[in-house]
Amino acid sequence: MRNRHLFTPLTLRGRTVRNRLWVAPMCQYSAEERDGMPTDWHLVHLGSFAHGGAGAVLTEATAVSPEGRISPQDLGLWNDALARIVDALHACGASAGVQLAHAGRKASTHRAWDDTRGSVALADGGWETVAPSAIAFPGLAEPRALDADGIRAVVDDFAAAATRAKDAGFDLVEVHAAHGYLLHEFLSPLSNHRTDAYGGSFDNRVRLLLEIVDAVRAAIGDDLILVVRFSATDWTDGGWTVDETVEAVRLVAAHGADLVDISSGGNVADARIPVGPGYQVPFAARIRAETGVPTAAVGMIDSAAQAEQILVTGQADVVLSGREMLRNPHFALRAARDLDADLSATPPQLTRGFA
Ligand SMILES: Cc1cc2nc3c(=O)[nH]c(=O)nc-3n(C[C@H](O)[C@H](O)[C@H](O)COP(=O)(O)O)c2cc1C
Repeated sequence: MRNRHLFTPLTLRGRTVRNRLWVAPMCQYSAEERDGMPTDWHLVHLGSFAHGGAGAVLTEATAVSPEGRISPQDLGLWNDALARIVDALHACGASAGVQLAHAGRKASTHRAWDDTRGSVALADGGWETVAPSAIAFPGLAEPRALDADGIRAVVDDFAAAATRAKDAGFDLVEVHAAHGYLLHEFLSPLSNHRTDAYGGSFDNRVRLLLEIVDAVRAAIGDDLILVVRFSATDWTDGGWTVDETVEAVRLVAAHGADLVDISSGGNVADARIPVGPGYQVPFAARIRAETGVPTAAVGMIDSAAQAEQILVTGQADVVLSGREMLRNPHFALRAARDLDADLSATPPQLTRGFA
């Protein structure tokens, strides 16, 4: 057995995650409709990754308010029903993370696999969406621009959801500021045309995110891990840039974030994105090098060797996996085997007879 970076525990805020191969948030559109309540689907889906040896398992985008759901079938955290899932993840030795989200102008849409695309009609259980500005995402309904009270309510909703996450026993809270959802919409000049304190300059566009990071940190206290997910770039001229992400990472870290999760895109429907193995890793590497903030890389990192190489070369501190985990929920154990890694941090039920 060899000491491998991927299977070296990571301690943040005094909480030790057993390894550095974590599960990326993935929407399941399987919550009880309109309630946001988890079902047995979530227990088995998330539990399978914990059983498969992942370090931390993050829930899908979990809405902080009913109007912040991507679809009527999205998970929500305006109730306390996620504790059972947290307990199951802990029973398998994994750390439990929740991604707190507000879908903004991309809320109230049909499930990814529905035949109908676009916004769900009000008569069919849809709702009016909100955004920094009344600019529609192509193919979706025009949102209402949030006023000052609306912005305050969003901050309060994130804080309340973070309190419930702490009460449910989560180890980690991720604020979703990526993929063209509400917080990214505020960051990007393409979707934020406001003329008040939340629009225009860089400082104004990051203001809501910083207020939410402050509110979430205050809600969870000092000993929960706080992660922020960014889209490093809009991949579009005139949009949110990598330079701005570097600056925003410095700010969220100063406001109490422990780790940043670096994705990209999602705010521009026709952006040309050069998708390929590890295509977003250079963003994580640059951000880690320039800010010194612990960084997670994500996006088409599908093998043990690729993940280990990203860590060995100092491009990231954590690797998040989405689709490879769906293909093989035991990807982490498989990776440990491939790397001949030390698995002493993994429960014996999983490792007995493993060799
Ligand atoms: C089925 C599915 C659902 C997803 N849902 C979310 C989500 O809820 N929140 C989020 O930030 N990203 C979401 N993503 C993006 C993933 O977290 C991840 O960033 C992306 O899939 C790239 O990683 P991969 O190549 O390992 O799959 C989703 C991806 C998939 C495949």
